[in-house]
Amino acid sequence: MDGQKKSTLNMRDISIEFPGVKALSNVDFNMESGRIYALIGANGAGKSTLMKVLSGVNSHYTGQVFIDGQEVEIRSPKAAKELGIEIVYQEVDVALTPSLSVAENIMTNVLVNKMGKKQFINWNYIRSAAKDALTRLGVDIDVRKPVSELTLAEKQMVLLASAARERCKFLVLDEPTAPLSNTETENLFKVVRRLAKEENVGIVFISHRLPELFEICEHITIMRDARVVQDMDITPELTSKQIVEYMLGRKFDEVYQKKNVPIGDALLELDALTEESDKIHGVSLTVRSGEIVGIAGLVGAGKTELCKTIFGAYRSSKGSVNLRGKNITPKSPSQAVARRLALVPEERRKEGVIVVDPLYANITISALQKFLNKIHFIVKRRQVDAAGKLIKDLGIKTPSENQIVANLSGGNQQKVVVGKWLVSDADVYIFDEPTKGVDVGAKQDIFKLIEDLAAQGKGIIYASCEFSEIMAIADRAYIMFDGGIVKEVKVSESSEKELLYYSTGGN
Ligand SMILES: Nc1ncnc2c1ncn2[C@@H]1O[C@H](COP(=O)(O)OP(=O)(O)OP(=O)(O)O)[C@@H](O)[C@H]1O
Ligand SMILES: [Mg+2]
Repeated sequence: MDGQKKSTLNMRDISIEFPGVKALSNVDFNMESGRIYALIGANGAGKSTLMKVLSGVNSHYTGQVFIDGQEVEIRSPKAAKELGIEIVYQEVDVALTPSLSVAENIMTNVLVNKMGKKQFINWNYIRSAAKDALTRLGVDIDVRKPVSELTLAEKQMVLLASAARERCKFLVLDEPTAPLSNTETENLFKVVRRLAKEENVGIVFISHRLPELFEICEHITIMRDARVVQDMDITPELTSKQIVEYMLGRKFDEVYQKKNVPIGDALLELDALTEESDKIHGVSLTVRSGEIVGIAGLVGAGKTELCKTIFGAYRSSKGSVNLRGKNITPKSPSQAVARRLALVPEERRKEGVIVVDPLYANITISALQKFLNKIHFIVKRRQVDAAGKLIKDLGIKTPSENQIVANLSGGNQQKVVVGKWLVSDADVYIFDEPTKGVDVGAKQDIFKLIEDLAAQGKGIIYASCEFSEIMAIADRAYIMFDGGIVKEVKVSESSEKELLYYSTGGN
């Protein structure tokens, strides 16, 4: 460890360009060891890009970086590691090798090094060192387990353990809490505080959840359109409303004004729906036309499982899915689409988008028949036009409709997933945590589009563990606990507190 000696890191006048995108424009960023920094900004503002300069991935930056006053060149990930900089990326799944064990993932560097030198590998050592790295963070995971069997939260911890093992001076966490439950987030915060205060690591924390920044960070840097627009210590006077306005560069009302949409007859009805391995059981609910129905529940309550069972991605063993009184229980997602259901899934990179395809193709893939001409050729111009409209409505930050989705920022990829289903023509839309990783401004844009669907008489299911969102957009909500529905509430007569009470098993 580096003792309690203070280290400083200064980035000066950093700029970077990608084809058609100026992603960073003369950015300064400063940090010291032992402190926790918030880096925030709208989707596509340049946060991840700036941090990838530090981690050596964006090696073509211009400008200067100093560590302890000495100028350094960070032109490769290896150079960054040697300088004591570690990063846990936004895309957890991309950073790990799912088929390998926890130990192998944590010890990748050591293994690669030894294999490179054709040295003997002492597996007992690998496992016990990996276990130590986890214990140091106060985490208990079986190091022999393949990473593919871990929860998202556990994967996050594996990445953190692997970064912290390197005894780094500076650690970047890019949206670490997006997939985590409240308890998991609290655990992560404990670990982060310990690394900062006891091991003197300087930490950068990126998140779209403002309250947690106030909880854990001391300093905040706000980015907008490739630049730093504010850089200050967090004081009790600073409000989240101010932060959002700096971030968006305009006035912003945090309280969402919900439109009044007339509610019609029952559209979708679930009758005692049970998933074949009992992931959800006996779920009965109704969604009327024009109605937004919230499914509130903590991480792990069964919301995703419910959405997938309705959509035929999981098999049901009992009960039925009925549309306008007719049993349509789908046996597969393609049947569900044919029966006019749409699902916006939770894990965008795994199932939501084809990241190597351009944006226009992703956005139009769920409704291809709309873009065919008389002889059934896809008319690219129609696809591009539809994509252009969504880019505008959702404020997707991209140089053009032709951009490869992998090149978009995390939050903008999420907007593509949502947008893709908005152009499809369904009767009932199921949204599973659609705003994860999306900035507060874009969140309201997504709410508006969902309300437009409701206004067209569609039925909406909105599953979320962010109860403030359910309160903002739903008309009615069902609360899930342990795979079943425990309570139904009218949102105008309920509160976040009540949702929390029932979702933690209260009755
Ligand atoms: N490899 C790349 N090729 C082309 N464009 C890129 C690449 N990486 C980033 N960009 C662009 O640079 C801009 C900044 O992206 P960045 O990922 O830094 O945003 P962000 O602030 O992290 O947003 P989010 O909150 O959505 O994660 C975006 O317009 C993005 O599309
Ligand atoms: Mg990002």
